[in-house]
Amino acid sequence: MSLLTHKHLLGLADYSEADITTILDTAERMKEILERPVPKVPTLRGVTVVNLFMESSTRTRVSFELAEKRLSADTLNFAVSSSSLSKGETLLDTALNIEAMKIDVVVMRHKSPGSPHFLARHLDSIIINAGDGCHEHPTQALLDMMTLRQKFGALKGLRVCLVGDISHSRVALSNIIGLKTMGAQVTVCGPATLIPRGIERLGVQVTHSLDEAIQRCDALNVLRLQLERQEAGLFPSLREYHQYFGLTRRRLEKAPAPLTILHPGPMNRGVEITSDVADSEHSVILQQVTNGVAVRMAVLYLLAGAKMPSTEMKV
Ligand code: CP
Repeated sequence: MSLLTHKHLLGLADYSEADITTILDTAERMKEILERPVPKVPTLRGVTVVNLFMESSTRTRVSFELAEKRLSADTLNFAVSSSSLSKGETLLDTALNIEAMKIDVVVMRHKSPGSPHFLARHLDSIIINAGDGCHEHPTQALLDMMTLRQKFGALKGLRVCLVGDISHSRVALSNIIGLKTMGAQVTVCGPATLIPRGIERLGVQVTHSLDEAIQRCDALNVLRLQLERQEAGLFPSLREYHQYFGLTRRRLEKAPAPLTILHPGPMNRGVEITSDVADSEHSVILQQVTNGVAVRMAVLYLLAGAKMPSTEMKV
């Protein structure tokens, strides 16, 4: 039994406004714990979490591990390269064998869209999606929303533009779903080759002009060009991409009011964003990273906390 209306966090598609608000409110309480001289509570003592990262990660992997340790869970990091996956064992057999050792939660990153959903159908453990290919990255969207809510006080009516490689971005889809659920106005901006056809059906506006987007939004979430997931030829060159869709100080200065700048990382400095913008007073990029630990603590507590004898958060 979870303290949310869900057992797993596979994506934000079936999470309601109330669910997301509960996570964001809980994350604010977790942030207070992180600011204490000893940032650790016994809340998840006795809960075992396996971090199954089958794709590269810095922020998500480290912040999940930190979140688990701050909540006193037992954590295990699974190294794919030295596992029996490299001997041909299937993902399902690997996961079933790990679960047979009595674990409670699997945090999973995988290159295949839908892989956390697949495991959720076959395992009893709680599954948390830490990014599945170009599908969803729910905890990234939650930490983005937490950062925006801290800056603007509320998400309802906020004008947010996602810029760049929308087609290959799991961050984009989770942000669109989460922000729309919370009542924000969402625009996507990028070259036509990097925006899926029919995306308007998700309730977003589309523009191919960054200068136009800058005129009518409060915050820009600049996405990395997912070069590892793209076919060749989706845009002529990185130089040309930067010329039309790179966020520069000169572009930002044309905004009617100062904009808040987010980036999920890792950044390609000089491609989608210049260093003077990424490191400027308008950037909340490192605040996003700090919030990532609090959001992941909140998700772990809300999904796995009810496994504990008392459901009250022990602080
Ligand atoms: N934003 C994000 O998912 O970063 P990592 O790939 O470093 O985890």
